[in-house]
Amino acid sequence: MRELKGINTYSLYSLLTAMDSFIREKYKPAKSEITAHFRVKKSEKLSFRECLDSVARESSIGTWTELATLEKKIAKKLGPKIFGLDEGTGKASIAYPLDLFEKGNLPQFWSGICGNIYGMSDVQAIRLDDVDFPEEYVKSFKGPKYGIEGVRKTLKVKGRPLVGTIVKPKVGLDEKGHAKCAYNAWLGGCDIVKDDENLTSMKFNNFRKRVSLTLKMLEKAEKETGEKKAYMPNVTSETFEMLKRAKYVEECGGTYAMVDIISAGFSALQTLRNEDLDLILHAHRAGHAAFTRNKEHGISMLVLAKLARLAGVDQLHVGAVFGKMEGGESEVKQIVRAITEKGPLKSVFPVASGGLYPAKVPPLMNALGNDIIIQAGGGISGHPQGIIKGAIAMRQAVEGTLKGIPLEEYGLMHKELGIAMQKWGN
Ligand code: 3PG
Ligand code: 3PG
Ligand code: MG
Repeated sequence: MRELKGINTYSLYSLLTAMDSFIREKYKPAKSEITAHFRVKKSEKLSFRECLDSVARESSIGTWTELATLEKKIAKKLGPKIFGLDEGTGKASIAYPLDLFEKGNLPQFWSGICGNIYGMSDVQAIRLDDVDFPEEYVKSFKGPKYGIEGVRKTLKVKGRPLVGTIVKPKVGLDEKGHAKCAYNAWLGGCDIVKDDENLTSMKFNNFRKRVSLTLKMLEKAEKETGEKKAYMPNVTSETFEMLKRAKYVEECGGTYAMVDIISAGFSALQTLRNEDLDLILHAHRAGHAAFTRNKEHGISMLVLAKLARLAGVDQLHVGAVFGKMEGGESEVKQIVRAITEKGPLKSVFPVASGGLYPAKVPPLMNALGNDIIIQAGGGISGHPQGIIKGAIAMRQAVEGTLKGIPLEEYGLMHKELGIAMQKWGN
């Protein structure tokens, strides 16, 4: 028998099994409960049911042993219920009473359902696939200020996906080079241009200088093209500094702020949203895959997307399906549904980004529809004839797709697209 810091695990099991189980096989969750859908890979030392009880306890009112302080009436009022067990797949759902949660506090949600349970030796692996929030809880969050409709109104674009680019190289250009790159992308037809996730305020590219120069070039591009344009500067930083940067963007007349939501964290994100600035919030999800990618363990991107909607982002990277990042069609579609379905909060504009180029536009629009933002960094800056032509090619790809013309054919009539098709193929 293995000794655990002096505790005989055999006697530990008898305590655990002596505890009341939270399993209610046929339970139907109440509308007022938060229901989490897990997949659990049990540890060798416990049965599947014991593992689930351990997860339910640790994420709510209990711990590894019986507690003299846990009165029956507390357990009755605040105890979770485990239902929908399927040992074959490891699936089980847990309904948590809403009173276990502080409304409007995402970090608190994270500490409970996304907390200790991922490190417990009582399970080999545990994955949070999905979560359902009651309306009362959802309404305690601000949600997006603009949503899809607000973004379309700001940019005056109807009926087609928005086209964007990311200034490349990711980091390295100075402020002037950055502004020029953005200007060229707008001239070519990009609606939006964004900073990359790891560009903030660097020795060679100062945030304030970059924002003011790039917004000046934006005005020029708007005059020359007659189209509305937007710049999404990355404000990610220590929270107070992030707020200062976002306010600076607002003072300069900018319409957007971009934030790396995993790097900044949900607390900082909520703080930014609570400032209620007149800025559309674009959410980059860099780092999410550290806990979303392993399909047996961690937290799904779907859950993160639902949390981002609660926090109040207007746009979110959801996966590009046909791009360079992991994330298949059914998963991305599910995320898109979750952030756009009708509810108390506005919908979030899904952003497809990462490894996209013109030939990927038709399958992407076919899979996700027109209400998406298509971003291409390398797929525009890597065009053999430069950024302007690269942006023209992307807009042509969207046009051709909307007209239902195969891009190989559309590329014969539109040379920028034709050149892109030659370079990258399908
Ligand atoms: C923690 O937050 O560190 C745990 O709740 C520890 O609790 P335990 O000693 O009952 O495991
Ligand atoms: C992003 O931040 O979304 C990526 O930088 C996309 O860049 P890519 O189109 O060159 O992959
Ligand atoms: Mg990037």
